[in-house]
Amino acid sequence: MQASVDEDRILIVGLGLIGGSLAAALRAAGFRGAIHSCDPNPDEIARGIEMGLIDGGDTRLEAVIDGATLVVLAVPVLAMESVMTQLASVIHRAAPGVVITDVGSTKAAIRDVARRAFGRVPPHLVLGHPIAGSEKSGVAAANPALYVNHKVILTPESDTDPAALARVRALWAACGAEVLEMDVVRHDQVLARTSHLPHLLAFSLVDTLARQDERLEIFRYAAGGFRDFTRIAGSDPVMWRDIFIANRDAVLASLDDFETGVGRLRRAVERGDGDAMLAIFDRASHARHYFESLLNQTSYQAEYQMQQHGKLRYRVTPGGGVTGRIRVPGDKSISHRSIMLGALAEGVTEVKGFLEGEDSLATLQAFREMGVAIEGPHQGRVTVHGVGMHGLKAPSGPLYVGNAGTAMRLFAGLLAGQAFDTELTGDASLTKRPMGRVADPLRLMGAEIDTAEGGRPPLRIHGGKPLQGITYDMPMASAQVKSCLLLAGLYAEGETRVREPAPTRDHTERMLAGFGYEVHREGDTCWLQGGGKLTAAPIDVPSDISSATFFLVAAAITPGSDLVLEHVGINPTRIGVINILQLMGADLRLTNEHEVGGEPVADLHIRYAPLKGIDIPVEQVPLAIDEFPALFIAAANAEGVTRLRGAEELRVKESDRLQAMADGLATLGVEHTLLPDGIDIVGGGNPEGANSSSPNYGGGRIDSLGDHRIAMSFAIAALRAGGEIVIDDCANVSTSFPGFIDLARRVGLSLDEERDEEGA
Ligand code: S3P
Repeated sequence: MQASVDEDRILIVGLGLIGGSLAAALRAAGFRGAIHSCDPNPDEIARGIEMGLIDGGDTRLEAVIDGATLVVLAVPVLAMESVMTQLASVIHRAAPGVVITDVGSTKAAIRDVARRAFGRVPPHLVLGHPIAGSEKSGVAAANPALYVNHKVILTPESDTDPAALARVRALWAACGAEVLEMDVVRHDQVLARTSHLPHLLAFSLVDTLARQDERLEIFRYAAGGFRDFTRIAGSDPVMWRDIFIANRDAVLASLDDFETGVGRLRRAVERGDGDAMLAIFDRASHARHYFESLLNQTSYQAEYQMQQHGKLRYRVTPGGGVTGRIRVPGDKSISHRSIMLGALAEGVTEVKGFLEGEDSLATLQAFREMGVAIEGPHQGRVTVHGVGMHGLKAPSGPLYVGNAGTAMRLFAGLLAGQAFDTELTGDASLTKRPMGRVADPLRLMGAEIDTAEGGRPPLRIHGGKPLQGITYDMPMASAQVKSCLLLAGLYAEGETRVREPAPTRDHTERMLAGFGYEVHREGDTCWLQGGGKLTAAPIDVPSDISSATFFLVAAAITPGSDLVLEHVGINPTRIGVINILQLMGADLRLTNEHEVGGEPVADLHIRYAPLKGIDIPVEQVPLAIDEFPALFIAAANAEGVTRLRGAEELRVKESDRLQAMADGLATLGVEHTLLPDGIDIVGGGNPEGANSSSPNYGGGRIDSLGDHRIAMSFAIAALRAGGEIVIDDCANVSTSFPGFIDLARRVGLSLDEERDEEGA
């Protein structure tokens, strides 16, 4: 959206590419005021007038300053001193309330110039820098689109006049630019890294090669790589000399970092250290792709962010069938652990069936940031080049784990044992979730961890603290807490023992054993001895029973359904949903049972059979903890009441799932009573006979609260709804179940995605 520029007379000092393009962009945006220019070269002014960009101009500032309402200094950085000094002596002739801005690529040096010229940085001077340019120069190259979708960084001082700032913002917004603010020092550091250093390298590389090959013979053969890398060496030498003089300190600091990096790579090449090279290239390659997709808005994270802005909505038509044979994506819990243990192992871990969802990808990315070379994922295959128990490197910034509670809690344990400090952050939902449950016992082991208020993320973990094994009686049945402590226990002196009040998923224990690490269990307690090592082993990730659940319930409630879900993990600590559905009367059978890499799997065959309400056995609760949102939909379609107790943990998942489901059920008109630790749901049953698909409740608009499992649960609810169900805020489905929509359509649901660009 182009903003309007409310200036009578703009004076552009310096009519080169940048100044000329500004005039061209203003004209193209319909700016009606006068544009004048001052430039030492009369030919440039004449050309600007001829091109219709400016109304007039002169080589002397005093000849064009009268009545100017906005002065833009678009001269080279080193010319700024003399231009600002002259301007200070004539500025009183400009219009009252005149605003001054500049376009210089370095800001600290220009601020110093302003202080010398004006005695201080005047409140009506707003320093700025459009991040746009080209190797071309001069007004003849002026381009009205030069600033479209480019960033302009303004670096206001604390006493800059807000009205002046707003006018400069409006100027650039009218040219189609995105206007940002930053302080001067930060600007210079950022630009040194992102612009000045690459230019310096390009100039240097071309010069070095040119010197080595006096006849420039080599350039004849210089194709893609050379051309891509050195395009910017064709830029204006004078301008760049000025920039390197003006931003000397920040450029030298970034050059030092670069030399350290090149040194590292040089040593790897010297030693023929393929793993080290692979780690560097792999990290760089992924960082580059990530960066590119951020620019193109296609990566999983960019996509995610975009979806968060343009909220994703499901619109599900009532009715539909559930038939076929499908395979849902890989298990989330096992995928997280495959990367974690693979990274800490000695040797190369080959993973098959990895879940390419945002949660497990966040774990993968975090290990890349800690120096682990990871190839893939390519169609569920990931190769992790383990660095050993003590081979992780300090990441350069906070580790962002998005929506993934599992990642944050397991990382907490693993990182408490490292020699370096780390910070763990996540998205808005994760930031509300309790982390005291891991931070407290880790502190008992000797870890030093800071949390935000109320034990919430971010977590700041201070490395280098010796850990001691403990015996911990978990106050809640949580596999994440248990796994966190076992991972910390790998680094602790002595034994780490964890007692669980009820059995929880044991993937960590199984995988540790698969990697050759002894884990003991007796009754409700498991333990391990610190100080051992992990040996890489192949991992075959089964399909996630938690994702399969949506289709199990879909089939269980829909007359005529007949569905096979292939290769689903049926670890005994995860099969609460199978047990509960069978107790409710579902026709659900397991076939082709076998074991892959220490985890049992089976094909699940489900056909419609009328369900009845039950009292859910309390020991099944931890075994079905992620499956309750979908099971509530089963309950809404059963005959009679289904009662759940002892499930207060549901209140601290990606949303308060008891409340979120109760609200959604209320919208559909399903009778229920919400309790602090559970719910009673009165099912609609099948009043018109066992094979009738008559609706059991109405349609309506549901807020999933950004919780993937709430969104998918109400999507399948539509199979027995009397009206359309619209579900808001569904982007997070891709944290655990990429491709949900396609599979849902494939089995017979009628479901559309919509994006609301304004936000729902
Ligand atoms: C998980 C454990 C469960 C589960 C989560 C994944 C794991 O959480 O809800 O989705 O991978 O260890 P709690 O252990 O906190 O119950």
